[in-house]
Order: sequence, then C-alpha cells, then structure tokens
Amino acid sequence: MRYGYFDDEKREYVITNPRTPVKWINYVGSLDFGGIVDHTGGSLICKGDPALNRITRYIHQLPDGEFKGETLYLRFKEGGGYRVFSPYYVPTLDPYDLYECHVGLGYTRIVSQFYGIRTEAAVFVPLGQSCEIRDIQISNVSPRPLEIDAVPVVEYSHPDALRQFDNADWVPQTMQSRAHREKSGMVILAQYPFMRKDTQINTFTSNLPVSSFETDRRRFLGKNGYGTWASPLSLQEEELGDYQALRGDNIAALLHHLGAIEPGQTIRLITQLGQDESVEASLPSIGRYRDAEQVEMAWEELAAYWDRYLSRLQVETPDSDMNRLLNIHNPRQCHTTMNWSRYLSLYQVGLGARGMGFRDSSQDVMGALASMPGESRRLIEMLLQVQKEDGSAMHQFNPLTMVANEGDSREVEEAPKYYSDDHLWMVLAVTAYLKETGDLPFLDLPVPYCDKDKSGHPLESGTVLDHMRRAIAFTRHDVGAHGLPLLGFADWNDTVNLRAGAESLFAANLYGKALLEMVELARFLGDQGAADRYAADYEVMKRRVDEHAWDGEWYVRYFDAEGVPLGSHSNEEGQIYANGQSWPIISGFAPHERAKAALEAVYRLLNTRLGIKLSTPGYDGFDPAKGGITTYPPGAKENGGVFLHANLWVIIAETILGNGARAFQYYSQINPAAKNDVIEQYECEPYVYPENILGDEHPQFGLARNSWLTGTASWAYQAATQYILGIRPAYEGLLIDPCIPAEWDGFRVRREFRNAVYQIHVKNPRHVSKGVRSVTLDGETLEGDVVPPLGDGATHRVEVTM
Ligand code: GLC
Repeated sequence: MRYGYFDDEKREYVITNPRTPVKWINYVGSLDFGGIVDHTGGSLICKGDPALNRITRYIHQLPDGEFKGETLYLRFKEGGGYRVFSPYYVPTLDPYDLYECHVGLGYTRIVSQFYGIRTEAAVFVPLGQSCEIRDIQISNVSPRPLEIDAVPVVEYSHPDALRQFDNADWVPQTMQSRAHREKSGMVILAQYPFMRKDTQINTFTSNLPVSSFETDRRRFLGKNGYGTWASPLSLQEEELGDYQALRGDNIAALLHHLGAIEPGQTIRLITQLGQDESVEASLPSIGRYRDAEQVEMAWEELAAYWDRYLSRLQVETPDSDMNRLLNIHNPRQCHTTMNWSRYLSLYQVGLGARGMGFRDSSQDVMGALASMPGESRRLIEMLLQVQKEDGSAMHQFNPLTMVANEGDSREVEEAPKYYSDDHLWMVLAVTAYLKETGDLPFLDLPVPYCDKDKSGHPLESGTVLDHMRRAIAFTRHDVGAHGLPLLGFADWNDTVNLRAGAESLFAANLYGKALLEMVELARFLGDQGAADRYAADYEVMKRRVDEHAWDGEWYVRYFDAEGVPLGSHSNEEGQIYANGQSWPIISGFAPHERAKAALEAVYRLLNTRLGIKLSTPGYDGFDPAKGGITTYPPGAKENGGVFLHANLWVIIAETILGNGARAFQYYSQINPAAKNDVIEQYECEPYVYPENILGDEHPQFGLARNSWLTGTASWAYQAATQYILGIRPAYEGLLIDPCIPAEWDGFRVRREFRNAVYQIHVKNPRHVSKGVRSVTLDGETLEGDVVPPLGDGATHRVEVTM
C-alpha cells in the first residue's frame, strides 16, 4: 500500500493519505528559527535552541490524531450550530474529498477539500527570518455562496521546554498573553513567560480583521477544559471570549469572519508566528508579511536558495531511485542534519538531553561541504570550542549557550567520562573541509579549548591545526593492554558500554584513518617531519591491529577490561559486528586477503534483503556489563538491527576493494525511495533515510524508525557521490575514481568545486567496475585522474573513460 508519490519535477513528495503509520514530517527554517511541521499541520517551532527557547507545544507522545502545536479550523453554519473542521485533517478527522500534503524543500503545502471548501496552506519560514508563515487560500468550490469563518490556533510551550513538562506549578503561573488591536481590525497576540516580558515575545497575527480571539486553552476548549481539540466548544459560539491570559496554558486563536464567499472565489489568509524582543521590534516583519506580494517574494527566495543549494551537485545515473535521492532528498537531509544534529525530530524530542552531538555534527559537516561550505566552517568552529585541552572532546553541547557536557556517560558514575571517537571525527571533518574549499588559512585560526576558569573564560586557545594534533595525541596515549585505544564510555556505538579498561577496534581504525589524513595534510603543507611522525604512529597501530584483532575469519570489535574479545566466533552473542569489518578497510590497516574475507563474512552473516545488520546474533537479555545494547530486544537498533549508518561504511569498503556490484546492491537495498511500495511494513517517510530498520531477528523485520536526524544522511551522500560515483575532493583537485556496477554504460555529474563548474561524463565502454583509463579536461588529456581546481567561475567539460 502507498501513502503518496514522488514528484521529482517539483522536488516534492506528495502524501495522499493522511493516515500514515507514523507522522511524516518536514523541516522549515533552520536552528536559528524553525522546526518541524508534520503532515497534518502540527508544528514544533523554536528559536536558536529547542530546549531553551521553544515556542510551540508539540507533545510527541500524544496519539497522531490529536492536536499538536498548531492547526487551523474552518467553520460554517449548519443546523442550529456550526460545522467545524480542520483542513489539515487533524484534529477534527472529518471525511475529506481531497487531501494532499506536499513535502517540499523548506516548505509543506497542504491541499485539501472538505464540504465544498478547498484549502491550500503553504507553511514556511522566509530565509533568515524569525517567523513561520502560513499562506492559506480558502476557495469555495461548491455551487452556492458559503459563509466561512477561519480560526488559526497555536499552543505555546514555556521556552524552557523541559520545565514545561516537569513543573506544572511555576510554568502556568508565569505564562501570559496580551492582545494588540489595530485600527485596521487586525490583532497581534503577544505571549511570553513573565521573566521575559521585556526581552522575548512570541507574536501571532494575520493579514485580515479579527472579530475576536482567545488566549487561554481552557476557555477555548470550553467547559473548564472538558471540551476537546476535535470539537472546541467555544467554536460553537458566534465569537471567542477576547480573554487575555494572566496565567495557565496559553494559546493564540484568531477568529476571522471571511464573509460570504461566492462559488469560485478565493480568500487569502496569511498567519505569522514569530518571536522578537518586543511587539514593537516585530512590527516591521509583521507588516511585511501581511503583504501577499512580500510573501510571494519570500517564497521565491526560498525556492532560489534551494535551486542554488542543489545545483552544486547533480547526477544522471542509470538508476532513477539513486538520481532522486542524490539530486533532491539526500542533500536536503544533509542540510537538515547540519542544522539540527540529533537535537529535534519526531524521535529526538529536543528537551536538552542531547543537544548538538560532537561526533554527529562532525560527520554531518562531511555530507554538506559541497553545498554549504560557509556553514560547515562555522559548525566546525563551534565543535572545536568544545574540545578539551587534553585533545578529547565533550560529547554534546547547547548551541544557544555553548554549554557542553559528557553525554550519557554522566548517568553511570564509575564510567569513563569521554568517548573514544568524538575528537577523531573532527580531524576527518576539518580535512574534508580543506579538500573541498582549499581554505588552508583556516588551519591557523585560533579557537579556544573548552576548559574554563572560575569566571567562565577559556583557559587556553590553539589554532585549528593544534586542535587536530591534540586529538591525535590523545588517542596515541590513551591505550589499553593490547596497545589499542581505550573505549572510554563508548565509541561510535553509543550502546556498548564496557567497564573501564576495555579497548575499541573502531577507535583504532578511526585513529588510523585520521592519521592517514594527517600524513596527507602534512605532506601537502610541506612538513615532511610531521608527515613521517604520523606515518610512524600509523604503522604502530596497524601492527597492533594486525597482531590482536584478527579472529580467523573476521575482525573482532572490542576487548573488554579482562582482555576477552567481543565480536568473535568465541562469543555466543554478538559474534560479528559490521563496523569491525568495514573500518579496517577504511583505515587501510587490513591486508588484502583479510579485507576480502571480512567483507565476505559481512555478506554471509550480516546482510539481509533489507540491509546489513550491525551485529549478530542479538544479545538476548539485559546485561549491565555490556550496557545499553542489551536493553534492546534482538534485532532492534544497535542490538542486531539494520543500522543504516553502518551500511554505508560497508559500501565504502566494498568500493575500496573494487566491488561495484556489491556496493550498489547494498546501496539500493536501503534506498528509502524504493520503500514507497512497502510502507505497511516500513512505516517511515520514504523521502529520507531512517537511522534503523528492525533486523531479521525481530518479528517486525523491516520496520523503520528514527528518520531524518542520522549520520546515515551524510554517509549515504558521501558513499554515493564520492565512492560509488567516485568524485572526491582532494587537496590537488577533484579526484575521479568511480566504482560502479559493471553493466552501467556510465553516468554524468555536474559538480561545482572551488569556483568552477565541472560537467563530468564518465563512460564505461569496457564494462568494468573500477579503474579510470583516461580523463580529458576541455578536450585536453590529463595526467592521472585529478581534475585541477580552475577557479575561474566558468564551466568545464570533463570526459572520463573507464
Ligand atoms: C545514533 C547516535 C550516534 C551513534 C549511533 C550508534 O545514531 O546519534 O551518535 O553513533 O546512534 O550508536
């Protein structure tokens, strides 16, 4: 069964049945101002930080048919009262004649028809602005004139989102609303918690005269709150109560009498939900977006922004699902993870337990570099500020305050308070940034370390390069009994939490990869001494991995504090881990025969038709000595689920070995676009990657969860564009090294790189998977397979023959 379809021309996914198995969402705006909009018009909007400045109250855990954050009611007289319905379907759930939710780039447009009334509501945040616009066109498509009233409603959260849920005394005593009625009859409803009345005001307003309003939820629902969102009793009255809340659960509802709408006539209602220091400060923006022409301009600017964003890399391959993902949805998802890290989604509730993740955002940067180099640099700078003087990093931070913490390790008193991988990811992010942009002066930028004196001033600063050196040095020294990096609280796999003294093969390989990057960078900078030192470090760790980590047919994944391996045939559960096999290939530590055997073991023991499992067999029972992984039943999440993020590393490893067919098979079997026909089983949005799919040890094999905010976005984009299509930035230029299914005749890529455009045409006349025979640039044959950066703003033709 399908719930919608892809409209590639409009770059939308169109949902045609609102009763999706779980909410399907979209993102509007950015972390500066914006949030999620679900496919039935609910919204969770915040400014700067979802935990510290939340605006709407979106309660994830409520059933999907319930009001969440925002809706619109329409009504007309019927019998002795009013027929009230929401054109968004939720929360009134009336039968509809038409329902479409267009999930677009930075906007959601709901088109519906109920009772002869057609509504088109476009929801978006104008670029760089602090307001959510709903541009709503209401048309009478019935044969008779209709008297229609329109009542848009918002429910507010206390800005401190956690307090909203855990303090039902303080919060309601502080929440207040004020109405500002203008000569035109328009009304601005202002809302704030008392302590922010002079500094931070939410406003909700529209472009049409308002006859009455309500700001108190209990009065709006009626009967002391025993009315419901599905049928608010106040909407059976001619007018709302014009009540300005002095406390309690604050909402903003504006009643507009649209008058008699003739058949074929359309009324345009534009609502705005914004936040500024004061009502006065928000007036210019309010004035601007009451003007339909300005709204249209903002809409066009948004479209132009996305055109520009996506144009930097466009592909034409023989696979339409791959094209769809690479040209639209995958880079779009990378944009989203860059903004929100793992902070705010349907699954990450944004109450502050997570914030921005150090490891997560470092990887997100790598997926968005081609399209957002400026933002990537800013995010790297933020990350470096939460790296500690000793070279390790804090696990996460609040973007608004830059206050950092140690993540889940805080919850286990005796556990090490760092993760063995966080700081190493940053080395990969910085070098990827340098290769994309050529911005070498960035290395000399001084950035403070996280450690602060008593008054909160940083104790020490270092250049970006210094931060990278310390990251490497931390792991060089932080090793255990086998000379392998200590696990810390965890590595990439957050959920294997072993007693202090355990060692991580993942960290060993990530360290190896980071060292390769340091060697390459030092060579490029002409610092042969540093290059030699890092190369020697690399050899030391390679030898230790060679000596200790091979289990006979594959690599082990950890050693616990007693030296017992995990991810070994000698274990009963968790005998083999996917990351244990892909990473020794990515690090270059694995000798060829072992690399081949390790990937064969992945295919044999971990692959399913719906993706590669993270490990197998699942741990069947809680075991505090292993940690979080055993809190999941076998087949779920890290405990033997198809954890998509890790699939991409296997794909990259396969391309390194030259297995184009296998790499592409793995890529296709997790392509969300291909799930459109099996939503019954899959459940999540088919237009973005989820983090995980239940594995085949779970009775609900194939069920996806945790969509949108996952490192899968970045790595799927990197794996596809840089390793399968093989167009990879290098210090010297754009390297072209595809690894594709042999039956492909070739493909085309349009790639902007350091201020020039390359129209790349790869031909595969001999039907091989890998190996470039010749490259020509504007007709001239190049030595090797690196296209130099021309930086002339012009378009260049690159012909590649495999
Ligand atoms: C989630 C976390 C990520 C972690 C992964 C595996 O995706 O965001 O940081 O690496 O789970 O545990």
